[in-house]
Amino acid sequence: MIVKIDKLAHDFRGITKVNDKVTFVSGVLPSEVVDIKVIKEKKNINEAEVISFDKKSEDRIEVKCPYSDRCGGCDAGYIRYDKLLEYKREIFSDIMKRYANLDIKPSIIRSDNIYGYRNKITLKVLKGKLAFNKHDSNELINVLSCPLANDKINNVMKILNSTNLSGVLEVTIKGTDEIMVVIKGNIDNNLLITKSNSVSSIILNGKVIYGNEYIRIKVNDIIYAIYPESFFQVNTSMISKLYDKIKEEAGTGKILADLYCGAGTIGIYLADNFDYVYGIEVNSDAVKSANLNKEINGIDNISFECKKVSDMELLNSDVITVDPPRSGLDKKTIELLSKSGAKKVIYVSCNPITLARDINLLKDNYKVNNITLFDMFPNTKHMESVCTLNLL
Ligand SMILES: C[S@@+](CC[C@H](N)C(=O)[O-])C[C@H]1O[C@@H](n2cnc3c(N)ncnc32)[C@H](O)[C@@H]1O
Repeated sequence: MIVKIDKLAHDFRGITKVNDKVTFVSGVLPSEVVDIKVIKEKKNINEAEVISFDKKSEDRIEVKCPYSDRCGGCDAGYIRYDKLLEYKREIFSDIMKRYANLDIKPSIIRSDNIYGYRNKITLKVLKGKLAFNKHDSNELINVLSCPLANDKINNVMKILNSTNLSGVLEVTIKGTDEIMVVIKGNIDNNLLITKSNSVSSIILNGKVIYGNEYIRIKVNDIIYAIYPESFFQVNTSMISKLYDKIKEEAGTGKILADLYCGAGTIGIYLADNFDYVYGIEVNSDAVKSANLNKEINGIDNISFECKKVSDMELLNSDVITVDPPRSGLDKKTIELLSKSGAKKVIYVSCNPITLARDINLLKDNYKVNNITLFDMFPNTKHMESVCTLNLL
């Protein structure tokens, strides 16, 4: 049946009506006229897929990646970049209104590069060659390159694809100038090492088999060492913009608590504005990275502890940064923040829905003062934000 798309849902699916029933359609844009087929009928909604386009939006562009229809990595690659940023702002505002009762339309800081920005990708292996998971499934598809990953990572993909990777279960390639390859499974070590002039480090099943046990990534004047399993922001050139904003919002003070601190990146970036900084992080590789980063950058007013944030007894600090995973803050952490008395909480979030939920849970003690979006993930539907909450 032929329908016109009215608007986008929070997950970027198009919304239309079929016999008065809300129907979600993937991969379409507002004002497009499409022939659809309903693939799932639920009690209150339908899900449909496009058979053909009768009228395409002016904001639709050719997707750069040959695997986009199957891989789903650049799942918003069909939307013109300026329009994608506008949609992200609108969807973010709508989520804030609906789940936190906030009227706000934050500005969005665009990414310098919309392709070649990623400093990390994880791949599987199919028939001895690199593969991505097919979108929303366990099925694999072989890939030669990824337009979101930087050139060095693509070059290593090419080298790996020229060898037989049978026996390998998973490969992570990470870095900007220095590249690390983290392999799970079995491999002919000699073969890889002879091909390794493009990598500075190879880790096989948790053991270093070539080069260093970490790679270094430079952000402004700071060098961050990253161990294999440590988190690091994926869009290298956007990191300084994100951290500059956090630094500006945090201001100065006596004690900064950097919660979910990863490799100590935010705490180290802000350390010169505080007498003392402490970081809390659950991943031991990340804490190892953080301690090395403290040393490499000659920062002596910072310490890190490997534990869950929710295992803290109390938070003694005048400013707190939190940068949790997509699931947001747990109940115990909300309680800790609520009774912390910190004058500001800077909440860095990669999931607006859990951010809105947590803003709501903190509302008796903290009020939103400022939110800025950062497009850390161009050509995808993902959103990153920095939200400053002031003590009431
Ligand atoms: C989004 S990353 C942020 C890392 C860092 N702030 C950065 O900018 O690179 C979230 C971090 O939280 C850590 N994490 C997840 N759950 C945690 C918990 N309950 N307590 C402490 N750290 C946790 C993860 O290991 C990860 O390093």
